[in-house]
Amino acid sequence: MSDEFGQEQAIRKLGPGKLVIASHNPGKVREIGDLLAPFGIETVSAAALDLPEPEETGTTFIANAELKAMQAADLSGLPALADDSGLCVEALNGDPGIFSARWAGEAKDFGLAMRLVWDAIQAKGPDAGHDAHFVCALALAWPDGHVEVFEGRVDGTITWPPRGDKGFGYDPIFQPHGHAISFGEMEPEKKHAMSHRADAFAQMVAAVF
Ligand code: IMP
Repeated sequence: MSDEFGQEQAIRKLGPGKLVIASHNPGKVREIGDLLAPFGIETVSAAALDLPEPEETGTTFIANAELKAMQAADLSGLPALADDSGLCVEALNGDPGIFSARWAGEAKDFGLAMRLVWDAIQAKGPDAGHDAHFVCALALAWPDGHVEVFEGRVDGTITWPPRGDKGFGYDPIFQPHGHAISFGEMEPEKKHAMSHRADAFAQMVAAVF
């Protein structure tokens, strides 16, 4: 991280103790808690502390992760970690991007969301490329307003029809570069070792512990 004069600033370290996971998704909270336990970090969820879920008004993954983490740190008086992730298709100028969850509608219908992605690529014409990447932004905020951010990604191509039922969200139409199967067909341990989330966490762990 650099300051307003372009000087490199030391990344703030995270000491042992309690950390709020600024998410109301129990699966995500458990997964992040497991990842951080070896570093002496005890996690508590935003839901357990009755913290409100802020509106995601940012225009980037980083901005949305930051606003979630900063609000949780401010309200709880503890350091807080938030993530924001999604699928970006190059031919669609990065869509669905930060709106990845919203493309699935109120019913969280990812069959529909995947179809919308495929149809949008087709609508671009026969020369439209299928390159895409998943992004995961992580923001770690402290109650004094300090925040560290990390962004991970994994590159691949959009395939049709959807394949596999092992993942979630857009996994069945995303085939990572260098692999012949979609994330939906991949064993979870294998996906978790190479995903955008793994990349972001590896960067964070290397920087803050
Ligand atoms: P959020 O970060 O919880 O807001 O999730 C954003 C949305 O991005 C999810 O609802 C999924 O649709 C999509 N997404 C994020 N990560 C993945 C992934 O690893 N596989 C499939 N879809 C994902």
